[in-house]
Amino acid sequence: MASRQVRRRSRPRGCCSLAALLALAALASSPGRLGAAGAGEGGSGVKWHVVSVSSLLPSEVCTATEAAAPINPSALSVVHRHGPCSPRRSRGDPPPSYAEILGRDRERVASIHRKAGRAAASKGSNATLRARWGKPLGTSNYFISVGLGTPARDLRVEFDTGSDQSWVQCKPCGDCYEQHDPLFDPEGSSTYAVVSCGARECREFGSRNCSSSSDGQCRYEVSYGDQSRTVGDLARDTLALTPTAAVPGFMFGCGHRDAGVFGEVDGLVGLGRGKASLASQAAARYGAGFSYCLPSSPSTVGYLTFGGAAASASANAQFTALVAGQHDDASFYYLNLTGVKVAGRAVRVPPAAFATAAGMIIDSGTAFSRLPPRAYAALRSSFRRAMGRRYRRAPAPAPFDTCYDLAGHEAVRVPSVALLFGDGATVDLDPSGVLYAWDSVSQACLAFAPNPDAASLGVLGNVQQRTLAVVYDVGNQKIGFGAKGCA
Ligand SMILES: *[C@@H]1O[C@H](CO)[C@@H](O)[C@H](O)[C@H]1NC(C)=O
Ligand SMILES: *[C@@H]1O[C@H](CO)[C@@H](O)[C@H](O)[C@H]1NC(C)=O
Ligand SMILES: *[C@@H]1O[C@H](CO)[C@@H](O)[C@H](O)[C@H]1NC(C)=O
Repeated sequence: MASRQVRRRSRPRGCCSLAALLALAALASSPGRLGAAGAGEGGSGVKWHVVSVSSLLPSEVCTATEAAAPINPSALSVVHRHGPCSPRRSRGDPPPSYAEILGRDRERVASIHRKAGRAAASKGSNATLRARWGKPLGTSNYFISVGLGTPARDLRVEFDTGSDQSWVQCKPCGDCYEQHDPLFDPEGSSTYAVVSCGARECREFGSRNCSSSSDGQCRYEVSYGDQSRTVGDLARDTLALTPTAAVPGFMFGCGHRDAGVFGEVDGLVGLGRGKASLASQAAARYGAGFSYCLPSSPSTVGYLTFGGAAASASANAQFTALVAGQHDDASFYYLNLTGVKVAGRAVRVPPAAFATAAGMIIDSGTAFSRLPPRAYAALRSSFRRAMGRRYRRAPAPAPFDTCYDLAGHEAVRVPSVALLFGDGATVDLDPSGVLYAWDSVSQACLAFAPNPDAASLGVLGNVQQRTLAVVYDVGNQKIGFGAKGCA
């Protein structure tokens, strides 16, 4: 198969037509966000955001431009897989239903809880030390375009801060799901190399029964909680992130048998804390750390950028320390969330209701943040009080329970929500991370959900991370959140 010309750092195909650019110009002259009002106590943030109701719904046109990414040669564009900027949508496929999105999100959180449970169950034994290419989570909602091999093949892969293992579907594929691009062909790459059974990384990351494979090639196997899985060769090849940034000898899984709900992405890159992740593999070249910005709406793009420069790009960021997780899971990034402010006032609940023993992770693949039940209940009552009687309540699809009917309103006053961390960092959320419009403005919901019990791991999801520059300063063991990282 002839390899196509590389289009690294490219927008998704069909993304920026003239029509889309004209639409962008139109948007620029009528900004969706009307402004913010009322200074918060203690100087941090505002009490209210006044948001135009129509801006709560994603646009049907892709308004992405290169300008959405910072002027940084190692930045990649981040695209929401359900939005009009995604290749799937530009081909005319309908967006998934909201029930489907919620179902996937539930499955993702359930698999995080299962994974944390397994790690807890084996704590004290050395069973988890093998750190196989396995036990990852479901898929995430954002993807990037990267180039793999020499000459580089352009591939669209999800990125996932909740797992370490990266893989793509490879030729020959006996049993693969349908993907957007032609399969990656190892024979078409002059720099492709399999990992042998005897190699150290095979013992560390390969599948258990490697030694029994006849050809001496290291296999990997990633099993998902929901029966999804990928099986193939553990391999190395050059991974081109941008035209000027590449990771030679990048270790990944070349999948020959893959099944599951991955959408149509060509694979997945793990950005977890563990040694196998792209974040760790890129650290030697670009410095430990990466940062990203997830756009406020599926119709725009954000970025993902690697290296130490990523950290300095966000001088206004509020930094909070990474903490040790109860479950010792090497791939998760744990944070110490101790409170929430609504409309400038801390909700009345002891920090222990937030910082439960189970802890909280930040995850790019979960959509709606999950809080311990007591913490969620406190947030919900403060939010309902702040919304007052100005807006009609609307039926709430589970897991939500606080929705409003905004039909007939031109603008909505959204109470500000800020996350408070144990070391004093205060992070104001974008209003797009507070109120989530269901399929119409007649059902706009508080975009958080409670965990089933206080013993379950909390998750800071991607909806709450929208528009923030999220800086993983892995070298200094801290994570920063900067306002207005992208649109
Ligand atoms: C796990 O622990 C057992 C007993 O302590 C030991 O015999 C075994 O070699 C250990 N396995 C690994 C992979 O370290
Ligand atoms: C490991 O061995 C079992 C049994 O022979 C086989 O079914 C499975 O596919 C193997 N796993 C890999 C990754 O080759
Ligand atoms: C979280 O922050 C609180 C308040 O500063 C502190 O008492 C607690 O020890 C911290 N927890 C962790 C796990 O660091």
